[in-house]
Amino acid sequence: MTEARSNSVQQFEGEVSFQPGTPGFYANPHVLYRALRERDPVHAVPGSSSWLVTRYEDVAHVLKDARFGKRMDHSGPPPEIEADIRPAVELLNRFMLFRDPPDHTRLRGLVSKAFTPRMIELLVPRIQAITDELLEEIATREEAELVADFAFPLPVIVIAEMLGVPAGDRQKFKDWSNLVACLIDFNASRSLFVEGSQVVQELTEYLRGIVAERRRSPQNDLISALIRAEENEQKLTEEELIASCVLLLVAGHETTVNLIANGVYTLLTHPEQHALLLEKPELIPGAVEEILRYESPVQMTSRLAQTDVIIGSRTITRGQEVLVSLGAANRDPAVFAEPDRFDITRQPNPHLAFAAGIHYCLGAALARMEGQVAIGSLLRRFPNLALAEPAVTWKESVVFRSLQSLKVRLIP
Ligand code: HEM
Repeated sequence: MTEARSNSVQQFEGEVSFQPGTPGFYANPHVLYRALRERDPVHAVPGSSSWLVTRYEDVAHVLKDARFGKRMDHSGPPPEIEADIRPAVELLNRFMLFRDPPDHTRLRGLVSKAFTPRMIELLVPRIQAITDELLEEIATREEAELVADFAFPLPVIVIAEMLGVPAGDRQKFKDWSNLVACLIDFNASRSLFVEGSQVVQELTEYLRGIVAERRRSPQNDLISALIRAEENEQKLTEEELIASCVLLLVAGHETTVNLIANGVYTLLTHPEQHALLLEKPELIPGAVEEILRYESPVQMTSRLAQTDVIIGSRTITRGQEVLVSLGAANRDPAVFAEPDRFDITRQPNPHLAFAAGIHYCLGAALARMEGQVAIGSLLRRFPNLALAEPAVTWKESVVFRSLQSLKVRLIP
């Protein structure tokens, strides 16, 4: 979907219905989201038993209310899974992202210590050094493709170093993580799960090898710390350990990449905001918050009603899925004045780009720091940075807001 940028959100024509494949949706989903917020805020998704909520208040409520969870099968034997899709299904099922308490609490507790704002502060010099190296590499050229050359490698190298897996294998992580990200998307097909299952086996074998190595000679990295948790406290199975590594590898890929690329694109298409940031570099933390709100890298997540729950005038029945639109909530005029205006000085900015409640993004402090260092350093180094092509293409995903590519002219 190609977008010729427009600052305003046009009026949606016709009946409001969540059908992401319709023309123009991926170029600008906000047209439909505005219509849904205004005309059908708790929307019955056509052709399914799912609901879609788009108002800030409802989104925050679903994310924070324990009557909405990630699974229904808390008791009894797990359902039969066909062999050809089992590896992929089982891997996703082990992610803390798809668990409820008490499993969620246990899994999150084991990795959360590595992601506190204090721990992330300690990483800043390393994040800056990696950023500078990447900028040095592209500085020799007149043009660069910022997604592949800059936005993607930075978070991958950082998380690979934190975990203790060789950053040199990043092409492999890229392929694996693209696939796992597709599996997380709502319209993932059965055939994708079959293909995914083969790739998942390859990926888990790779990580199993590294885990075995770290068992023999522990290092000062996250995998060694997780092994200690597994061996000493018996709080983690090897399968859960591997799934947690996969989740961290993937979580840092498809999201922070979008934060950096969407941020640079949005600044370059809003020259007055770009100029303001160049003049006042200390505005970078607020600029990153506004990018997270305005082009939220994760647009949507979901929950399952654990019991019947009323939202507005609708009753969500036990077992029904609720799609939660973070992207729509972040443009709700009930909370954000002039929500379609990109304003790096916006305050307060209580966006939900990292969700809310018990699954609030574990990597939020890291992602914010990476975004600030990456975007701030790029703009400082290339103050006359410009788009090489005015139109961009957004990937066809309802979960991630991702640019296919971002070609820029590197004018120092
Ligand atoms: C969860 C967004 C970067 C690790 C989440 C959720 C969102 C999110 C919306 C919650 C999903 C839900 O409630 O269903 C983002 C965005 C990022 C980002 C927008 C970048 C701009 C990262 C990074 C990491 C990370 C860099 C780690 C390396 C996680 C983990 C969870 C999570 C482990 C699951 C937390 C849980 O279930 O308790 N993220 N994320 N994220 N994120 Fe992030």
